[in-house]
Amino acid sequence: MTDWIPFGLVRDFAAEKTDAYRLCMRSDGWVERYGADALISYKTETAGDQLACELGEWSRLAHEPFARVFGRFLPRQNSERHAPRIISGDARLPLDRTVLERGVSYAVDFGAGYSVGLFLDQRENRQFVRRSAPRRLLNCFAYTCSFSVVAALAGGATLSIDLSRKSLERGRDNLLLNDVASDQHRFIADDVLRVLPRLARKGETFDCIILDPPTFSRSRTGKAWQVEHDFEDLLLAALEVATRDARILLSTNCTRLDERALEVMARYCLKATRRAGKFQPAMRLPDFPHGEGARSLWVLLR
Ligand SMILES: C[S@@+](CC[C@H](N)C(=O)[O-])C[C@H]1O[C@@H](n2cnc3c(N)ncnc32)[C@H](O)[C@@H]1O
Repeated sequence: MTDWIPFGLVRDFAAEKTDAYRLCMRSDGWVERYGADALISYKTETAGDQLACELGEWSRLAHEPFARVFGRFLPRQNSERHAPRIISGDARLPLDRTVLERGVSYAVDFGAGYSVGLFLDQRENRQFVRRSAPRRLLNCFAYTCSFSVVAALAGGATLSIDLSRKSLERGRDNLLLNDVASDQHRFIADDVLRVLPRLARKGETFDCIILDPPTFSRSRTGKAWQVEHDFEDLLLAALEVATRDARILLSTNCTRLDERALEVMARYCLKATRRAGKFQPAMRLPDFPHGEGARSLWVLLR
């Protein structure tokens, strides 16, 4: 069971009130815990069966029983992505549940689609936002607004932008779940690339900006977006609404972009806009092997 997280780490997570984390990571799949449920993500049926078998053994040795186990196939094409299916446990139970991360509640839903609602590899970046307590957070590609939740808990106002109205509704529910919903928190269901220039024209500024775009997307007008080619333009547009001392998160799941490439791009954008700043890599996650999970870089303007 060498690829599985040590029991000591499970106790550390429990002590800090976190019950959503990665249990095992392999080249052909991984297993994640979401409260009392587990999710197996696999590239082949054989890998899925092997991980399910080892999960049973790990759960017995760790004295951590799971109510349900879900499985999800990891396809090469986004168009072939499907919601997880239940492998074991009571199929009549509701598919949504609440999980905790450092005492903060997030709703996850195994029936909502391929992604359940919380990206575990952003845990340390969420903590960075909470600790830095921004006055005004701009959460681009907000999904279920987890970054807005932590900024709101730290007392900041937030603006969350996502193409998906449904994801933003889930974000609003996440704020309610943590008793921080108020008129300080705005949501815009539109293309980030259209909204950023509008915000700049209105003179809006933000001291923390989250840029965690998908690898590939298509806007409502059909225009294609590709992170390798378009991240630079996105950062340039974000700099137009950044305060002098803003913190900007650059994050991507694209395996062809690493932290070094993000820094080269950020240096170019700062030079082009005559801004000064330094760079800080994201904190390492104890449940993700080195090099796994999203690649992230914080740009700290000054
Ligand atoms: C990788 S997820 C972001 C995850 C989020 N940062 C988090 O940590 O929970 C990408 C999100 O971008 C949204 N999206 C894709 N293209 C977009 C666009 N052009 N403008 C706004 N949102 C977009 C998708 O709907 C999806 O919710």
